[in-house]
Amino acid sequence: MSNDRTAVSANKDIATPEIIDLHPPEEAIRDLMVDGLGASSKTLPCRLFYDERGSELFELICEQPEYYLTRTELAILREHLPEMADMLGPKCDVIEYGSGSSIKSRLLLHALHEPAVYIPVEISCTMLEQAVANLRQEFPNLEIMPVCADYMQDIDLPRREGDRRMEFFPGSTIGNFHRDDALRFLKRSARFVGGGGALLIGVDLIKDPAELEAAYNDAAGITSEFNINLLDRINRELDADFDCDWFRFRAIWNPELHRIESYLISERDQTVHIDGETFAFATDERIRTECSYKYDLPLFAELAAEAGFEVEHVWTDPQQRFSVQYLVAT
Ligand code: AVI
Repeated sequence: MSNDRTAVSANKDIATPEIIDLHPPEEAIRDLMVDGLGASSKTLPCRLFYDERGSELFELICEQPEYYLTRTELAILREHLPEMADMLGPKCDVIEYGSGSSIKSRLLLHALHEPAVYIPVEISCTMLEQAVANLRQEFPNLEIMPVCADYMQDIDLPRREGDRRMEFFPGSTIGNFHRDDALRFLKRSARFVGGGGALLIGVDLIKDPAELEAAYNDAAGITSEFNINLLDRINRELDADFDCDWFRFRAIWNPELHRIESYLISERDQTVHIDGETFAFATDERIRTECSYKYDLPLFAELAAEAGFEVEHVWTDPQQRFSVQYLVAT
């Protein structure tokens, strides 16, 4: 894919910034969904959570009292950003994957010494547009090059030769990748930032299973709605007929694989039609919608090393719930 393939440009004023659109075509989304539901253990790819409604629901999840990840990471960033900025040095290009509403990057951009350019990469174009409009007002002198894309695809990001590059990947989104994908992502990242370039990454840590399960089964039911929205999305976009009232949500800790597994569970025998295909669900049959891997520090350091990064510094909160790690490409 090349980044001039479908450059989307609305008005060139601040409120509607020009966005480089590398979004996957609609057929790709259909194939992902149909392949996952056709497998013997049904799955759906978690990155498809983030349509407009899903992105809004995710922002709400981050505010739930049980979901400690966001507020713990924010507290670590608020406390240690000056130190992080000193390590990152002046005038670097900042690339952020899954930038969402860019709350964390605003903190980072304020702390950094004269960042050269900010490249937010986000799958939800609406959210990206809004975030960039706000950032352009807050940082009028900063060059911003927004890219609307699924960063798990091989995307061709803008690069400015000679600049030092750093990537920012907060939120423990790395935890949503199986090991092979996490390794592939980190390898690509190491290659992109080049020797001496850096990755500042949020990594959630292994802890009491009760605390982990509570974080993913919030009492207000927002995570459940976030999961059900995936079925709604298939209904909306692929003219399918999921009856969302007949699926319930549950997240379970898997201690062997150190991950939270999220499931939509069929409440009865039922049949669903999606774009000409038929899928049968037995009572209690599950669709796995997401895995959220948790790490300990040695396990993550080992993965980073295999990808070509050295962990230079780790910041955690006093309870060691969450970590922000500064990795340098070797
Ligand atoms: C984006 N990602 C790190 C979140 C997580 O914790 O795995 C997504 C999420 N799923 C349910 N709650 C939050």
